[in-house]
Amino acid sequence: MEEYSASVHAALPVHVAVIMDGNGRWAAGRGLPRSEGHRQGAKVFRQICEYGADRGIGYLTFYAFSTENWSRPQEEIASIMALFRDYLQEARERREENEARGFRLRFIGDRSALPADIVSLVETCERESLHQTRTTVNLAVNYGSRLEIVASVRRIAERVARGELKPSDITPADIEQGLYTAGQPDPDLIIRPSGENRLSNFLLWQAAYSEFWFSDVLWPDFTPAHFDMALADFAQRKRRFGGIEAVQKNI
Ligand code: FPP
Repeated sequence: MEEYSASVHAALPVHVAVIMDGNGRWAAGRGLPRSEGHRQGAKVFRQICEYGADRGIGYLTFYAFSTENWSRPQEEIASIMALFRDYLQEARERREENEARGFRLRFIGDRSALPADIVSLVETCERESLHQTRTTVNLAVNYGSRLEIVASVRRIAERVARGELKPSDITPADIEQGLYTAGQPDPDLIIRPSGENRLSNFLLWQAAYSEFWFSDVLWPDFTPAHFDMALADFAQRKRRFGGIEAVQKNI
């Protein structure tokens, strides 16, 4: 992995999104319950969050729980919710440390289905870190990209119905403004470990020009060295955004 480090900062992504996958397989491989895989995954989440921020990444988005994950056994869902609760409580306790790092915490997804105490903690963490600007951490919980787009389109339809907007005047910016990530740059790089090469209803709109980095490593085994490999690989990519010249900027 060392050979990658020299070029890591040649072109640093502004926004890195991560699909944390493979917790269940990691646990099964050790004869452990799935909840243990998630517990280890949550530890790695904290580590990569801090590492990414220390590397100077401005936006880090982590896919933690999808709108489809409710179909899992109740026990597993409860274990993931407990990990969110622990993380949020810890984020409050470690407020000074997080402020020193310049973390702004944001939660993307439909929070209406989450336990009330978690929603309350989420709101507190968002409010308390509102003024931080160095690294925005988006935690995607009960997130589904198709529903996110549908909600945005509904808002536009309501404006049209009220006569505030003509259908012919609708632009991509109108859709973008209704997404959870409104105002944030699109992800430059999307990392998916665990050997799966798909997006799974994650940031479908925002990923229009994202670069992808896939790896067979399971999320609980993911290390800062893997993150560096993804950054180094990204630095080699030629991004043309539909044009013919390589562009060294984000749209
Ligand atoms: C996908 O792996 C992972 C999840 C559905 C849950 C991810 C949750 C965490 C990493 C913990 C979140 C906690 C915080 C504080 C962010 P999988 O279970 O589908 O793995 P598999 O494909 O191997 O079964």
